[in-house]
Amino acid sequence: MATDRGGIPPTTLQQIRDTVDIVDVVSRYVTLSKVGQNHRGLCPFHNEKTPSFNVNPGKQMFYCFGCGTGGDVFSFLMNRERFSFVEAVNELAQQAGIELPTTSIQRTSGFDRDQRKTLEHLHRLAHAWFQQNLHESTQGQGALTYLQDRGLALDTVKDFGVGYALPSWDGLLHYLCKNGAKAADLLQAGLVVAKQPSTSGESKRDGYYDRFRSRVMVPIMDLRGNVIAFGGRILEEGTPKYLNSPETPLFNKGRNLFGMDRAREAASQLNNLLIVEGYFDVMVLHQHGIRHAVAPLGTALTAEHVSLLRRFVKNVVLMFDGDAAGLGATLRTMDVFINTGVTVKVVRLPAGEDPDSYVRAHGGDQVLALQQQARPLVEFAVEQCLEGATKASVEERTRRVDDVLRILAKVSHPIEKEEYFKQVAERLGISQSLLMQRSPVLLARQVSRDSRQQSSPNLPARGRVQDQKGSREERDLVTLLIQGMIEPDQILALRPEDFLNPEYRRLVTMSLAHVNQDGVFDSEALLAEAAMNQDFSALVAQLSVSEQHFDDCRDYVKGCLNVLERRRLKTTLDELIARLRIAEREHHVEQIAEINAEIDSLREQKAGLAISPQA
Ligand code: UTP
Ligand code: MN
Repeated sequence: MATDRGGIPPTTLQQIRDTVDIVDVVSRYVTLSKVGQNHRGLCPFHNEKTPSFNVNPGKQMFYCFGCGTGGDVFSFLMNRERFSFVEAVNELAQQAGIELPTTSIQRTSGFDRDQRKTLEHLHRLAHAWFQQNLHESTQGQGALTYLQDRGLALDTVKDFGVGYALPSWDGLLHYLCKNGAKAADLLQAGLVVAKQPSTSGESKRDGYYDRFRSRVMVPIMDLRGNVIAFGGRILEEGTPKYLNSPETPLFNKGRNLFGMDRAREAASQLNNLLIVEGYFDVMVLHQHGIRHAVAPLGTALTAEHVSLLRRFVKNVVLMFDGDAAGLGATLRTMDVFINTGVTVKVVRLPAGEDPDSYVRAHGGDQVLALQQQARPLVEFAVEQCLEGATKASVEERTRRVDDVLRILAKVSHPIEKEEYFKQVAERLGISQSLLMQRSPVLLARQVSRDSRQQSSPNLPARGRVQDQKGSREERDLVTLLIQGMIEPDQILALRPEDFLNPEYRRLVTMSLAHVNQDGVFDSEALLAEAAMNQDFSALVAQLSVSEQHFDDCRDYVKGCLNVLERRRLKTTLDELIARLRIAEREHHVEQIAEINAEIDSLREQKAGLAISPQA
């Protein structure tokens, strides 16, 4: 899942990193002063009064303990200037006087880059054309009236770049071809559709027709505000109500959120993103001052949506329409947020309302008030399952209990989980112990289903590793690892499966790959790889700027390794003891002896390990 490097070779990236000083670059935007090993200042990515933004010159990383933004010099510019990765590299290469090897760029990804450029250009042209139709043509008049009737101010229409597709079958096609576009490119851009192959021989213009006709055209932008797709709404009743661009090399529904380019600023300031259902909801909300609103593009939220929005906020509120088929969607969205560190709350509008109608009737402040009332996702999901349950038949109630248990299985916090069990039991009039009894049955079913799906034989015992926050030892080990303080032989002693925190686990796996055959550890390469990976860059940056000092690092690492090993042995021991119990109950004499011998040897191993590391 590494970020697109635009075909720029790692050695060039490293050369840029070595030449440019992150402290210089950041200093152009932030006043920094030296504190310990870091330079510190007020974070440019969120509002703060006391500085929690750190730049580490040694590791060439920045991290803000306030908002969690962090990364290397490239990510700094990407965040600050809204540059793409390639743009950030270009900018810095230019400053450093480093020539980018264009030949290699062209060889590896020149085609893609050119193709993207072409598609972006076509979208820009089409966007201008649609807007011109809306504001200047006679046919556009009806669409303007429609937008006005829906309560959209002309400023909002212009601000969002809304346009209009004429009723004609080839208006856009002609316009774009006149401007030098090739029909094949228009097809790839999703702006035209091919006629049945039988009716046309060659890829001439007359083999195609406009995809969008007589529709209000809502442009969909990427984070930098480039148009990458359109959603076209029919003016009257009719189907489809919205016709959207297909997936193209520029546009992927599961990766983009409508309005994110506008909402990112306000959202990161509030550390909160409001997710609503539709295009018009977003536009009308923005018009009423709710600027942290976005919408998915008619699909359920995906893990990629979450990793996109996680760059800007740690809190999300889902605002569902009053008549939304809430439960199914909620349960589906739930999975993608689990263990991502993003807190999700849910609120449902009164029956018959959507954010669009609600904000027009009650104003922005009421929307904010409603957002305040949003409840944690799990609580909401449980509530949905239970709605009207007391009146339901026994079978129906059992089905709902199972639904709820399936949700609760995903709650990792034990106290929280118990609290929910209590609530559910009360609401359903079922004893809590009965509920608990039923839960492991379902869980077992779930686990076996999961492990069947995840059929790769190279992932042993993955189901047994529980995703957790990770102990102090885990954290110290990865910190030292990132800081290049662990010697190769000790790195090789790290076992990914000992790390309960999934991010640490992957980081350790990654580092093992950077110890070469001669036993030399390339910490720079690890840092570069991790920083390049969207999922890791903030964590790596955070670990890079955290200040720690150990008198005897080698010894401390040894202690940490011992703790992890003891923990692993203990888990294995617990499993053995459970097996022993069963063997004893069933009087399997041979097995009992075998297991006992195993237990003894593990106990010995465990006793041989020092108790705890000296901090
Ligand atoms: P809704 O049906 O809730 O529509 O779809 P809406 O946004 O409230 O539309 P208006 O107010 O009647 O104009 C929510 C979202 O689902 C996607 C669109 O992204 C829409 O904004 N959708 C809906 C489609 O992609 N195609 C459709 O035919 C309908
Ligand atoms: Mn609507």
